[in-house]
Amino acid sequence: SSSSVEGSKRLAAWTAVDRHIHPEHKVIGIGSGSTVPYVVERIVSQGKAMNKDRVFIPTSFQSKELIVNGQLLLGDVDQYPVIDVTIDGADEVDLDLNCIKGGGGCHLREKVLAEAADTFILVADYRKNSSVLGTMFKQGIPIEVVPFAYTKILQNLHLLGSPKAVLRMAKAKAGPVVSDNGNFIIDAPFPEEMMKDPYTLLTRIKMLTGVVEVGLFCHMAKAAYFGNADGSVTIKF
Ligand code: A5P
Repeated sequence: SSSSVEGSKRLAAWTAVDRHIHPEHKVIGIGSGSTVPYVVERIVSQGKAMNKDRVFIPTSFQSKELIVNGQLLLGDVDQYPVIDVTIDGADEVDLDLNCIKGGGGCHLREKVLAEAADTFILVADYRKNSSVLGTMFKQGIPIEVVPFAYTKILQNLHLLGSPKAVLRMAKAKAGPVVSDNGNFIIDAPFPEEMMKDPYTLLTRIKMLTGVVEVGLFCHMAKAAYFGNADGSVTIKF
């Protein structure tokens, strides 16, 4: 049910905050998506005294709003290129902690903050806990691209093995989704054989001219927390 999914998200988020955000951590990256509000909720509950000399770095418009509404101090990654801990959601996570991100179109900033962090932690509900990427999140790998190059990139993705790659279209507007950075998003599903080696696929897609960032995060996460419907937490590390 939807309440068990929400409960699972909260459980994963709270557990990850309790285990990874310590008093000595002063620069914290905040991810995007529907699980991250529970991360901010738990951080806020640590109290004003604990948070008063901390700065929080957003990965999106959405997480900036969460930080501001939580009355936490907002910073940016160009001021704080070294982050103690970044906690973020994921669309699907495999056995090696590789993941698909960008279902919400925020994976460019998310990857910058994941890379800047000493510790990068994933939080999700049980539906994201997978063995091979693409078996659960079937819409494809999110790819942020420079708008004027999108047709050429679609052609190249078709040649690379994703004949169904499409430009992501907005739901409440006639036209494409525009990212926080003013770019377009392509969703490119690849066959399972290729998804079994996400790092090779990542490097091939990233080589296409006009691609800004690929929603495959390889060898970045230190641990992933999945909330389960029965109230337990599965931890992969
Ligand atoms: C945003 O671009 C995504 O990478 C999100 O982090 C991802 O979609 C996870 O979102 P949920 O927590 O809503 O599943």
